[in-house]
Amino acid sequence: GDPPGDPLPVQSRPFASYGSALHITLPQPPRAGQLLTLHIDYEAGEGPGVCWLTPEQTAGKQKPYMYTQGQAVLNRSFFPCFDTPSVKCTYSAVVKVPEGFTAVMSATSWEKEKDNTFIFKMSQPIPSYLIALAVGDIVSADVGPRSRVWAEPCLIEAAKKEYDGVIEEFLAVGEKLFGPYVWGRYGQRAWFPGAGASELVLTEPPAPPGRYDILFMPPSFPFGGMENPCLTFLTPCVLAGDRSLADVIIHEISHSWFGNLVTNATWGEFWLNEGFTMYAQRRISTEVYGLPYTCLEAATGRALLRQHMDNTGEDHPLNKLRVVIEPGPVFPFFVGVNPEDTYNETPYEKGFCFVSYLAHLVGDQSKFDGFLQAYVNRFKFQSITADDALGFFLEYFPELKEKGVDTIPGFEFDRWLNTPGWPPYLPDLSPGEQLMKPAEELAELWAADGLNVEAIEAVDIAAWRTYQLVYFLDQVLQKSPLPEGNVERLSKMYPKISKAQNAELRLRWCQIILKNNLEAEYSKVKDFLHSQGKQKYTLPLYRAMWAGPEAARALAMETFSATAPQLHINVQNYVKKILGLEVTE
Ligand code: BES
Ligand code: ZN
Repeated sequence: GDPPGDPLPVQSRPFASYGSALHITLPQPPRAGQLLTLHIDYEAGEGPGVCWLTPEQTAGKQKPYMYTQGQAVLNRSFFPCFDTPSVKCTYSAVVKVPEGFTAVMSATSWEKEKDNTFIFKMSQPIPSYLIALAVGDIVSADVGPRSRVWAEPCLIEAAKKEYDGVIEEFLAVGEKLFGPYVWGRYGQRAWFPGAGASELVLTEPPAPPGRYDILFMPPSFPFGGMENPCLTFLTPCVLAGDRSLADVIIHEISHSWFGNLVTNATWGEFWLNEGFTMYAQRRISTEVYGLPYTCLEAATGRALLRQHMDNTGEDHPLNKLRVVIEPGPVFPFFVGVNPEDTYNETPYEKGFCFVSYLAHLVGDQSKFDGFLQAYVNRFKFQSITADDALGFFLEYFPELKEKGVDTIPGFEFDRWLNTPGWPPYLPDLSPGEQLMKPAEELAELWAADGLNVEAIEAVDIAAWRTYQLVYFLDQVLQKSPLPEGNVERLSKMYPKISKAQNAELRLRWCQIILKNNLEAEYSKVKDFLHSQGKQKYTLPLYRAMWAGPEAARALAMETFSATAPQLHINVQNYVKKILGLEVTE
């Protein structure tokens, strides 16, 4: 029912863009257990979940492209559904596309029929937000026994080169740690027209089971990655040429257990998806790349959390792990947050700290790994709350329950969940010091008033890994603005940084340009924002421009008017908010 009082104008009504419920009246009330089939004819078009790209918005610039992005609550504009992560179901789809296009979906089976018609079936239950479709001029190449990459023809070479032979290792380590990879096992009952319902279809050799494919998206894709089952959607920004940004793919692979198998029941507990996934990602990374490197990567994550909390204020209601999504108790008090806004560093990095804290309570890595595997096994194909997860933790470790670890003053589970602010416990990242220290020291040198050129030249960054450079640049950014002239010298000394093609380096370099107000280099900011539309790159740069002098604000306006049409609608609206422009629904 509507809340009492005058309705708010559409613009200030919370979640106004999320449509309205479809009410269906049945001719007769159904009996318990009765099976109903509903046919709903509808057309989808302008909603935020379905993105239609012009040829100019693709990498190849030849043909249009379309894709869907369901998370968090956008798929309701793609098809009528119970658009909540607490409901899971299977699906099938028949997709007819024009000649010269290929359709792919997050499905366990995939068939091409005549008339450019594609038939998909997802035979394992998933929440609505994981149903995804993309159509474009795309081709594929194998990169492992159960993996292939999909991309526009002009990117396929680079995509194959980046991931050939490595995906399987990530999957195998994930399986060793968290149990079987279940998505798209062969030998299941496959569905296609003409097949008897009970026919068993083997489409590929049986071992190893499952499919984990990757679709490289057009540059405006707003996320690093999206864990659509069987088919992760990935930003082309990770095509760095040197596998240096593999953490993104390890992250999406980790969702195969945390998020896709065990799913948060509400978006208010999104940290259950992302915090556990960050932990799993770093467990896989530790096995593959070692602890020092993984701690370094985690330190850059912690820096992002610091920046986010500084931006929003530690006490912001988004900075607790459990956020209130509901529009609020009584009109006109809307205390809830928009589910889309939960995509920020808190559920990721504070969530990671909480899971690390649980591991710390256990005190033994292999025992905690055992717990994670049991957790997945206990809750697979279900949607759960934090209380379910933490209850299971205490049940699994009765000796900890006895000790009352959930109520240790200052570290109460309740405080973790319901109090905004900096995490009460931070995992020890000192194993990464061998990589972090040199970067910290070099940043110190560059922040000094009279530059000690000799000491600077003695540091050879040629062999540094990308994340070491990222960490160094984050330190420089923190110390910025640097004394007059230092950034110009830094730029000349390290073309590896100032002329980098790597997106993570470009982001930091652009932030440094803006924080130091280096007008001569503004074109780098512009070029970067023209080249991609990832939310986590786009918003910090607009925030920095808007906090700067007149020239920086002008750069922001000019860049936004040129690039807005190619940004995802949500990203467009966030930028508008930063620039004080009116947001239309
Ligand atoms: N599921 C998220 C992306 C997402 C979150 C989409 C919320 C819509 C709403 C995905 O798994 C993710 O976390 N991607 C990260 C990767 C990073 C942590 C390595 C991203 O896009 O930055
Ligand atoms: Zn994620």
